[in-house]
Amino acid sequence: MKGKRILLGITGGIAAYKIAFLIRLIKKKEAEVRCIMTPASCDFISPLTIATLSENPVLIDFWNQKDGTWSNHVELGAWADVFLIAPLTANTMAKLVHGQSDNLLTATYLSATCPVMIAPAMDLDMYAHPATLRNIAQLESDHVHVIPAEFGELASGLVGKGRMAEPEHIVDHLIHFFKQDSLFEGTTVLITAGPTYEKLDPVRFIGNHSSGKMGFNIADQFLKQGAQVILVTGPTKETLHHPNLKRFDVESAQEMLELVQKYWKQCQIGVFSAAVSDYRPAEKADQKIKKSDDELILRLIKNPDILAWAGENKSKDQVLMGFALETNRAEEHAKGKLKKKNLDFIVVNTLEDQGAGFGVDTNRIKIIDKNNNLTSFELKSKREVAQDIVQYLNESI
Ligand code: CTP
Repeated sequence: MKGKRILLGITGGIAAYKIAFLIRLIKKKEAEVRCIMTPASCDFISPLTIATLSENPVLIDFWNQKDGTWSNHVELGAWADVFLIAPLTANTMAKLVHGQSDNLLTATYLSATCPVMIAPAMDLDMYAHPATLRNIAQLESDHVHVIPAEFGELASGLVGKGRMAEPEHIVDHLIHFFKQDSLFEGTTVLITAGPTYEKLDPVRFIGNHSSGKMGFNIADQFLKQGAQVILVTGPTKETLHHPNLKRFDVESAQEMLELVQKYWKQCQIGVFSAAVSDYRPAEKADQKIKKSDDELILRLIKNPDILAWAGENKSKDQVLMGFALETNRAEEHAKGKLKKKNLDFIVVNTLEDQGAGFGVDTNRIKIIDKNNNLTSFELKSKREVAQDIVQYLNESI
């Protein structure tokens, strides 16, 4: 579970007091925990306890009254590797079934793109009621993982099935869940991302509009599947934190090449998504270039091709994937690059497709392998495209 990101939703049942122990157990496994509490759950355990144990602020409302900031429920679901709701009351369960979103926790459930797990907790008759059984069945068919309630003493004084699963058992479910989710454990992946900036003088450069989003999303998906990731990135606003991530920030193609040369040998997979400047200024001025004549002619020289270097220095056990952003005859150009740079796979996207390319959150890709087999994907968010790429590599190598 080390490095896994667990979003923990707490609803208002007496079992909420046990969540303090659950958080301790999860933290001992070196996973990260962020908590969302329903207002009712705050009567059962204090947000201060939860914040202290989870080492993160607790989220309760859509709005933070103090500073007016908004809690982004979409971002929370995208951050998490799993959204675990424990304890889950009969009331919130019914809301989840019907897609109600009257508090931050239920809104997060509706927008969550990560897997969801629930640990129901209620009195035995509530748990056995046909309505509850129907609701659990519905959530299961909505792909929610259910951690069944356990048998024992209940807050009502009755004895039966309805107690929230013990924290140790919930952790066992998490461990089992993540075991299935580690396609690339033991694999080291080298990823290049973002643009390169080629300096003209101390204040100017030649660059491009690449945001780095695609490469960062691919890194994130590999990390989610247990890989060690070495990410070499050009200038970007993207952020990513994970104990299995080594991130190197560079500016120029030459700097990116040096890091790739240093790390490629120890990696089993390379995914090169950086938009590397093909050329750089032949001379870099030490001082700011002053405005003088009506015309300024720049002489550019070719940059090293980083991907081609990795292709030339690829062992038979290494797998290399490149990207090709094309404006015309996309497949033909991509196949040429695949062969010329000695790649195993190339991801093609074309600016002819709406919603694909730089600066947008979506992408439509095709992947071509070295036997010229082509797989096409729908227009999707860059996060989903990254999931497709990682899944494709898992199935193809
Ligand atoms: N690439 C690289 N180093 C370069 C240029 C490109 O590593 N100096 C990599 C990119 O990261 C990408 C692939 O090569 O994975 C294709 O990049 P692209 O710019 O589409 O191809 P080029 O070979 O530069 O061809 P052209 O610009 O002529 O289309």
